[in-house]
Amino acid sequence: MARDKSIIKKHGKIADEIISLESVYEKLSDSDLAKKTQEFRERLEKGETLDDLLVEAFAVVREAAFRVLKLKAYKVQLIGAIILHQGDIAEMRTGEGKTLTGLFPAYLNALSGLGVHVVTVNEYLSQRDSEINGSVYNILGLTVGLNGRDLSKEQKRFAYAQDITYTTNSELGFDYLRDNMVYRLDQKVQRKLNFAIIDEADSILIDEARTPLIISGGSQNRINLYKAADSFAKTLDQKTDIEMDLESKQVYLTESGIKKAHKFFSIENLFDFRNTELFHLIMNALKALFTFKLEVEYTVQDSEIILIDQFTGRTMPGRAYSDGLQQALQAKEGVEIEDETTTLATITYQNFYRLYSKLSGMTGTAKTEEEEFLKIYNTRVIVCPTNKPIIRVDEPDLTFGTINAKLKHLVRDLEEVTQAGRPVLIGTTSVESSEQVAHYLQKANLKFEMINAKNHHREAEIVEKAGQVGSITLATNMAGRGTDIKLSDEAKANGGLFVMGIERNEARRIDNQLRGRAGRQGDPGTSRFYISMEDELMVRFSSPKLRQMFLKLGDDHIKSKLFTRAITNAQKKLEGLNFDQRKNVLDYDNILSQQREAIYAQRDSILEQESLKVVLSRFHYTIAFEIVERNSELVRGERTINIPLLIQEIDGKFVFEGSLTEVDFIGLEKQEIAKKISEKMMEHYLNKSSSVPHEVISEMERRTILQTLDYHWQKHINLTQKLRSGIYLQQYAQNNPLHEYVEESAKLFNKMKVMIAEETIIKLNGSFVREMKMDEDINFVDLQPKTVNITDKDIDDILKEWDIPKENFGRTAVEKRLKELQKQFKKDKDQLEKVNFQFAVLDGLMKKLDEMFAQQNKQAAELSFEAVEKITKKFNLDKTFTKEQVKESFDKLIKEAEKDEEKTSLLIETQILMAIATQFESNQKEFTITDEEGNVKKVFKTNPDGSISEDDIEDTEQVQTKTKLG
Ligand SMILES: Nc1ncnc2c1ncn2[C@@H]1O[C@H](COP(=O)(O)OP(=O)(O)OP(=O)(O)O)[C@@H](O)[C@H]1O
Ligand SMILES: [Mg+2]
Repeated sequence: MARDKSIIKKHGKIADEIISLESVYEKLSDSDLAKKTQEFRERLEKGETLDDLLVEAFAVVREAAFRVLKLKAYKVQLIGAIILHQGDIAEMRTGEGKTLTGLFPAYLNALSGLGVHVVTVNEYLSQRDSEINGSVYNILGLTVGLNGRDLSKEQKRFAYAQDITYTTNSELGFDYLRDNMVYRLDQKVQRKLNFAIIDEADSILIDEARTPLIISGGSQNRINLYKAADSFAKTLDQKTDIEMDLESKQVYLTESGIKKAHKFFSIENLFDFRNTELFHLIMNALKALFTFKLEVEYTVQDSEIILIDQFTGRTMPGRAYSDGLQQALQAKEGVEIEDETTTLATITYQNFYRLYSKLSGMTGTAKTEEEEFLKIYNTRVIVCPTNKPIIRVDEPDLTFGTINAKLKHLVRDLEEVTQAGRPVLIGTTSVESSEQVAHYLQKANLKFEMINAKNHHREAEIVEKAGQVGSITLATNMAGRGTDIKLSDEAKANGGLFVMGIERNEARRIDNQLRGRAGRQGDPGTSRFYISMEDELMVRFSSPKLRQMFLKLGDDHIKSKLFTRAITNAQKKLEGLNFDQRKNVLDYDNILSQQREAIYAQRDSILEQESLKVVLSRFHYTIAFEIVERNSELVRGERTINIPLLIQEIDGKFVFEGSLTEVDFIGLEKQEIAKKISEKMMEHYLNKSSSVPHEVISEMERRTILQTLDYHWQKHINLTQKLRSGIYLQQYAQNNPLHEYVEESAKLFNKMKVMIAEETIIKLNGSFVREMKMDEDINFVDLQPKTVNITDKDIDDILKEWDIPKENFGRTAVEKRLKELQKQFKKDKDQLEKVNFQFAVLDGLMKKLDEMFAQQNKQAAELSFEAVEKITKKFNLDKTFTKEQVKESFDKLIKEAEKDEEKTSLLIETQILMAIATQFESNQKEFTITDEEGNVKKVFKTNPDGSISEDDIEDTEQVQTKTKLG
């Protein structure tokens, strides 16, 4: 605290300086004020730092905000703003004006051009704050983007490209994960993660951080494996084959159990890496069979497993265990086994936010979690003083025996308080609880509004009225955050907002959040919590005896400070437990996080590099080294390499047959041998692929590497998740399961890298061998293959075979047809391979065309009436024409064309004419030409006679951009 005070004092001095500049900036015209942005940017370029600019920049923002929003930032807000700029967490009470505070560091840091993300807990707040603050950024010449779940990729890219981007927490994280699944660099939507300002930082960085972000998909069908594991578990003798730890619900196999497993599954070692998945299945089956009891932990209804809440005894329809435990229970009970989804990508919030160069946050409640912020995010928590003293009254809790008793009492209190002309906010911990309360209110004929995750769109409207005399608003804690309830004068005079909490939360922080809805900016207000012995927290932390005692109260209650303090102590205990749990999750995630960063960096470099030969040569070396290792053995205590076996493994597969013999390796070290082999591998590969056009090759290489990489990475994530579920490790690591996990995971990762390399190279080698089957004349395995160019005729032949008219040749048509053919030949492997190869050839050509087209496109966008007329003339067509006529002309012209460029132009022109002809035929009055991404390039309008008139040719590029901006 002493530290906080001195920081506040230091920042306070800077804040005073900022305020003293008011007299300077208030004299500037709006446009001169806006010019400051440019000036700051120039000074940054000349070497000044953001810190150097802070005082002036904040003073400019303060003035601009005053002009646009009519709010003049208080000193405490400026102090908060400086804390944020320094990458710390500012604890500022609710209603102190954090939205305005965030404006300052966002502006300052956006001057660097590297992007600033303002992160909120929901879309309502994102939108609200981007609109409020956006108006200030805009008059200062900075751009603002708003990200959201329903945006297209292009809209998202646009939002992230702005100086400042408002986004929700989860969307931000998912975008990051999705960006690391793309196949082309330009499909990414985010820029580098530079600076984030997180609103409601405790909610996002602590509460939400308990569950990681997961993109899942592609379900695994392993029904038979579940059944097998279940059958195995049912053969075991509970006395001799297993050991159980009831408290942690773990079951272990004993020596005899392990023996039975080996026999049952015909394996040598259950603890071998290759059996990680099987082990996991078995452990789940054991758990399901021996520690989960029907009608205690779960019940079966309509052939479905329904979980039972351990605290309340109620069933929880729709809930399911993860990691295959649910499936194990289904196998045990003989009901239908659902598919298990696999994780495609995952990250914890902790590790995601650590990726930012600078991280800051603001919230009303963070100090209680300071240790966690510091340890995990390396951010300090600094408490800002309030602008005005808080006069809210926080009453002791009312404690009841049952939920029914407490809600009945709540209704009575409500009638009294609203009668007195005070607005009320009721806060609940969940949507279910909200609905329960709503039921009581309805029965009592009380009028109220409800805010929860389901009706965000109405939030603004509801909040508008929530501070009026006699209004009742019911909100879940989450939804209540950040909402700005303004009191009417009359409501203020009647005593202000009355906050009623329906249940104490696991963390004090969350309770304080709710209380803080009242008494903002020195307003009067009251807060009170209603507790019952049936609340989850009470069930967990009080003795059954105590609960019995309370039941005797009937509808009565106890109002005691002592009891309130006991609850606070329970919360403290729980906070500690929860922190440990999060810390534990994080410790385990750290290794995965390093691996993820390595893989994502590699992905990026594969996307970025023009030529992938360096990557491939590294793959070659990896494989070569692995093969050398594989063929090493201990002979009389010495490591020796079995050269004949080694050669056998690579000959004709990775290198040309006979190109390496035993003499080549005499006297060489392992590394040297690997190097020699890898060089030969590269030679082999280059030779084989030499006949295929460069574009085709690099595209194939890129795709193959990425596909293989993604596949194995996803597999790795799922494997380590299972590894982590602990059961595997606890049995075998007496000392330190985390340590053991880290080691095993690293081993798996290294193995994965080898697999990626090996599979990629085998696939690529295979791709080029396939060509032989297509054309018997060409022999690629020949040591000195004849080089063969893919000729126009080859392409013609493919198109003919694929049944694509030449003039329709284009990505859409080709990709559509590819899908059809792939489906058609699903069972015919040879045909399928051929089709895929043919596609690669076409794809290479299309890439080339795209490039040319991109250049021509610039011209196409400026395509004037004259230009269209010129093409029509070249094609020898009348004012109106049919597709048939275009095709005829094209056939004639293409025969005469000699150079590649001429042919390309013809193709493009044909496409334009075809588009026009289509419109003639469909008799439409207006038609558009779009580019590949669907952007409207051109709008044509036809005259009644079908011809195009010059005036009606309208360039829509401009229009398009404008609507995007708006
Ligand atoms: N300097 C100021 N002068 C006058 N009013 C202000 C000032 N700053 C903020 N306000 C007003 O205070 C109210 C609360 O602001 P805001 O919602 O940003 O608070 P908050 O700190 O984010 O609260 P919460 O914790 O609830 O999210 C708003 O109505 C806002 O317009
Ligand atoms: Mg807020």
